[in-house]
Amino acid sequence: MGTVRYNAGARTLHWLIALLIIANIAGGLLHEPLDGVISIMPLHKAVGMSVLVLSLVRLGWRMAWTAPAYPATMTRAEVGLAHLVHVVLYLFMIAMPLTGWIMSSASPYPLTWFGLFDIPRLPVVKDSLLAGLGHEAHEIGGYLLIALVAGHALAALRHHFMLKDDILKRML
Ligand code: HEM
Ligand code: HEM
Repeated sequence: MGTVRYNAGARTLHWLIALLIIANIAGGLLHEPLDGVISIMPLHKAVGMSVLVLSLVRLGWRMAWTAPAYPATMTRAEVGLAHLVHVVLYLFMIAMPLTGWIMSSASPYPLTWFGLFDIPRLPVVKDSLLAGLGHEAHEIGGYLLIALVAGHALAALRHHFMLKDDILKRML
């Protein structure tokens, strides 16, 4: 029997969102070093808000179907860890844009979707506790997300190259 893959919607959304998140991690880290060279933040904000919308669509989509079963060679602990990491990834896919949106709502800089329309501002007061917490959580969250994505990608590569099972293929 051939590989039972994730459905086309799940695969498309997985790689599209992964690309946008990796771009935003890079942009977030580079925005201070490149200050005065190029203005990354308008793009960062628009890409990040797109991730929020796409992730909500993806979560809704995800609830409508069942993922392909894991190979019997995987232990219960491995399956449990995979599920845990996936749930936490989904949490970050929502929480990173939300905390960015919270802090940016309180800042004087423009908040638009690629200059096409204004993104509504959340009612966050400048220099408030909420604005500060949003900033702090966004920064710490960014580093946690890097570790999480690295672990997730390494696990996928381990399955493909070391265990030689179909885990990576079913997301391609
Ligand atoms: C996929 C979603 C997102 C990811 C992965 C992400 C990631 C990051 C990272 C890694 C940083 C650098 C943290 C630091 O060292 O200060 C950063 C900074 C920043 N992000 Fe995001 N971000 C996302 C979405 C957003 C959104 C939606 C907004 C606003 C609408 C936003 C606004 C900002 C701002 C203003 C900074 C600069 C903070 C500062 O320099 O003080 N981000 N982001
Ligand atoms: C920002 C980057 C990424 C995010 C946020 C992310 C997120 C996710 C999430 C949430 C799932 C669970 C899918 C579900 O069952 O609903 C998943 C599955 C998967 N991802 Fe990623 N991913 C990222 C990058 C990558 C990369 C770089 C690779 C490959 C090197 C990869 C390979 C896979 C594979 C093979 C699966 C299926 C795993 C399984 O069935 O247990 N992902 N990803």
